[in-house]
Amino acid sequence: MERLQKVIARSGYCSRRKAEELIAAGKVTVNGDTVTLLGTKVSYADTVTVNGTLIEPEEFVYYVLYKPEGYVSTTDDDKGRKTVLDLVPNEKRIYPVGRLDYDTSGVLLLTNDGTFANLMASPKHKVDKEYLVKMKGFLRKHESAQLAKGVVIDGHKTRRAVIKNVTYHKQTETSFCHIIIREGKYHQVKRMFETVGHEVITLKRVRYGVVTLDGMKKGEHRLLKPHELKQLRHMANS
Ligand code: URA
Repeated sequence: MERLQKVIARSGYCSRRKAEELIAAGKVTVNGDTVTLLGTKVSYADTVTVNGTLIEPEEFVYYVLYKPEGYVSTTDDDKGRKTVLDLVPNEKRIYPVGRLDYDTSGVLLLTNDGTFANLMASPKHKVDKEYLVKMKGFLRKHESAQLAKGVVIDGHKTRRAVIKNVTYHKQTETSFCHIIIREGKYHQVKRMFETVGHEVITLKRVRYGVVTLDGMKKGEHRLLKPHELKQLRHMANS
């Protein structure tokens, strides 16, 4: 069951506020009866009209995109840069769940389900995000131990993280590692590595909960599988 104004707004008929006005003005019917109560809940089996027009509820869609570098994760950009919405079917007014930086690649979820997006974005949620990091210099044991224990960014200590698969490439004087975190503060991974003296050169999110890039090429998208969606919801709530 959903609030009537939400169902109307999500159909694309008008904004939620406008829908509230229309309900209060007696312009909305549910199963043939005029409804003026704002809190009224309806299901998708109910027939809703506004000003005599039938409201077609918008179905939820959930995509995973292998975001390439060079795209912003917002729905539009004031600098005119390409956005991730240029890479997915956009008939359902979807938007990204959280953000990846312009120069970061990897797993990005997109949906038109606000409840799901909020659940994933909630600071309490417990979905692992795994990144492949390429950085300048040699990542020493005590530095990775420090990152795992927590470092201070913006006056807050980061939560426990896992650092694994550390390798050093002598010729280029760069290190690679995987880091698994549950938070998603602004530029979190880059800033964490900065605190231990390593500038991140490239960053790729290789996993979001159970969702990976397996079988996908940069720029490609696919629908989330039902079991992936179920597990993400389950992890976020556990
Ligand atoms: N951390 C970052 O610094 N950037 C991202 O895009 C994601 C996590």
